[in-house]
Amino acid sequence: MFKPFTCLAGIALLLAACAGPKTPQDRLTVNDKAIDKVIAQMTLEEKVNMLHSKTNMSSAGVERLGIADMHYADGPFGIREEGVPNGFTPAGWKLDSATFFPTGSALAATWSEELAYKYGTGMGTEARLRGKDVILGPAVNIQRLPVGGRTYEYLSEDPILSAALSLYYTKGVQDQGTAVCIKHFAVNNQETNRGSVDAQVDERTLREIYLKPFERAIIEGGAMSVMPAYNKVNGDYCSENEHLLNEILRGEWGFKGYTVSDWGGTHSTMGAMLHGLNVQMTGSNYLGQPVIDSIATGALTENLVDEKVRQILRVRYAIEAIPDDVANTQMTSQPESQQIAKEVAEKSIVLLKNEGGVLPLKSSVKKIAVIGQNAVLKTQSGGMGAGVKALYEITPLQGIQKRAGAGIEVSYAPGYKNFAGRRWGPASATPNPLVASAINEPADKALLDEAVKLAREADVVIFFGGTNKNIETEGSDRANIDLPTGQNEVVKALAAANPNLVTVLISGGPTDLRELEPVSPAIVQGWWNGTEGGTALAEVLFGDIAPSGKLPFTFPMKLEDSPAFAMGNFPDKTQGGDLFTLMYRADATQMTREERQRMLDAMPKPTSKYTEGQLVGYRWFDTKNVKPMYAFGHGLSYVTFGYGQMSASVGKKAVKVSFDLTNEGGMDADEVVQLYIQRLDSKVEWPLKELKAFSRVNLKAGETKTVTLEIPMDDLRYWNVEKNGWDLDHCRANLLLGAASDDIRQKAEINI
Ligand code: BGC
Repeated sequence: MFKPFTCLAGIALLLAACAGPKTPQDRLTVNDKAIDKVIAQMTLEEKVNMLHSKTNMSSAGVERLGIADMHYADGPFGIREEGVPNGFTPAGWKLDSATFFPTGSALAATWSEELAYKYGTGMGTEARLRGKDVILGPAVNIQRLPVGGRTYEYLSEDPILSAALSLYYTKGVQDQGTAVCIKHFAVNNQETNRGSVDAQVDERTLREIYLKPFERAIIEGGAMSVMPAYNKVNGDYCSENEHLLNEILRGEWGFKGYTVSDWGGTHSTMGAMLHGLNVQMTGSNYLGQPVIDSIATGALTENLVDEKVRQILRVRYAIEAIPDDVANTQMTSQPESQQIAKEVAEKSIVLLKNEGGVLPLKSSVKKIAVIGQNAVLKTQSGGMGAGVKALYEITPLQGIQKRAGAGIEVSYAPGYKNFAGRRWGPASATPNPLVASAINEPADKALLDEAVKLAREADVVIFFGGTNKNIETEGSDRANIDLPTGQNEVVKALAAANPNLVTVLISGGPTDLRELEPVSPAIVQGWWNGTEGGTALAEVLFGDIAPSGKLPFTFPMKLEDSPAFAMGNFPDKTQGGDLFTLMYRADATQMTREERQRMLDAMPKPTSKYTEGQLVGYRWFDTKNVKPMYAFGHGLSYVTFGYGQMSASVGKKAVKVSFDLTNEGGMDADEVVQLYIQRLDSKVEWPLKELKAFSRVNLKAGETKTVTLEIPMDDLRYWNVEKNGWDLDHCRANLLLGAASDDIRQKAEINI
């Protein structure tokens, strides 16, 4: 029962509590008074100087007033090597080798908030060692397209999973005294024409799917900075999008920090100033002198500049600057982070198929043939921006050799050519070098013969297929999801030579497995798994640990089955509209300012229509009854799990479910339990089912634990476009408890 305070101390406490910051965002405002005093001492030039880049990876403070510069680092899966001040060319430092953490989709395959938090702490700590204030990450856009060039950086096709991991990554980083710059806000789901494409998405889909991973990190995690994306959303560039930046981010979510445009993603002075951008990266052609000129003419006010500077300074005050003589005095990569990278890798590996018990490898195996370029591929760098100069990276072959030891013979053959066909640079050439081509070349006869010979002589064959960072990369989407370089031909020949065949897919996104799957009794999704990726993979293959990753996205049977393709929404027919391609062309041919402008005006205006709405990923496959190759949430173990009777209750604030989970096997193992909801007599339209809660549960051999899952009532709401607000759809619904989106073990009906 509520008891009013009766003593003075109680009243004082109550007042203090009311006056103090209420939300993680409000905490950023605690220094506002001091900040305003400092702003009052600054000249207009000093203030404007803070609104654009100083170097390629910093923006200015005011030395005279003791305000340090802001130092940025990519993000999102390791602290990027130091570049020269005016670009990305390596500076050649000795101590900037960092830990390479498993890339985004691998982290998401752990379905673990705890690991996302640890991952964040590793990133945050290494950023501090390098003297960085802000990490350009996490990258949390929804994986809308299987071909997406940055699928490997992003987390999941599902907003609930993405949001949870984005939140804990953010907390992990910021708890180390480093700020995140969560990116790319928003609806940056394709690389094709990314610098100019207009993503046209309806408000309900925007709110329920595409904004969720940002919303939680900002509101609950207190994310201190945000990177507006390159693209447009519903007509306006993200860096000057009133709806996204001013109405939603600052207005509704109460964001108190600052925004940093993606590199080259600022498009105007007035648009950026009026509609929510704080810092132009890189360059000063929009948020430099033109701001001063606009104030002189009265088009902009100095108050607006003050407000932007205040928002930047809030973060500057919250993040302790690292003195030059302290930063970079020890190696960036640290053993604690390497251990985190290993743990994430161990829990990310997904066992897609295991027929006939090929895995784990039997103790009778004495000769292993490792086939495939991807067994020796290093995935720390490449793929443009997001790359790490790793202190070390254990490849799959090295991991297997080390684990095998002296008693087991491991032989290796490349099997197929390494696909390295992409060029990145001035786009004077046709065909456009940014588009992947010639992926489906036939197998190389000599390499194939060599591989088959090894396979015949071995007890077991481990084939490493998948893609590489020439294929999956920032700056372009894949032309298709086919396995490149004749891999299907190779794997069929290997299967004919030796039926004891395991396939490991080394890729960040899904691939077309229609030819590979029937001939491969065991299939593992091995990801781009970081510094300790090879070690973790060997542990799973040899059965030292049970695999426990679950797919964060759907593996479609074929590309055309996936929603944006099936709806004809992607690819857009507009050709040649990529702003960056054209800019490179302008630089390469030394165009004048006028010629450049004429070219920009004449540029096609590409669009991406999101008419599949909320039906992204499994929401589409389930609702439209299209069978995928491997469903969202799928992942096998070396043990089986028993799901006890579930009980469900609906409270005011949350729906709760609990049940007993038993490890029925002979080894310790983790299971990721998943809770979906299916609306029955709803008033609005819903996908067939949607993930609402999940948990990774660790169980010793034979152990039983009671598991409780909770769905906050708020997560059951939909965006009511008429009310322009969140609303509950009061209806009957089934709670579906399972081990994957296509492996539902139990059902319980509730009333919402
Ligand atoms: C990418 C960002 C990255 C930035 C700085 C851009 O091309 O889109 O994700 O943080 O470059 O490297």
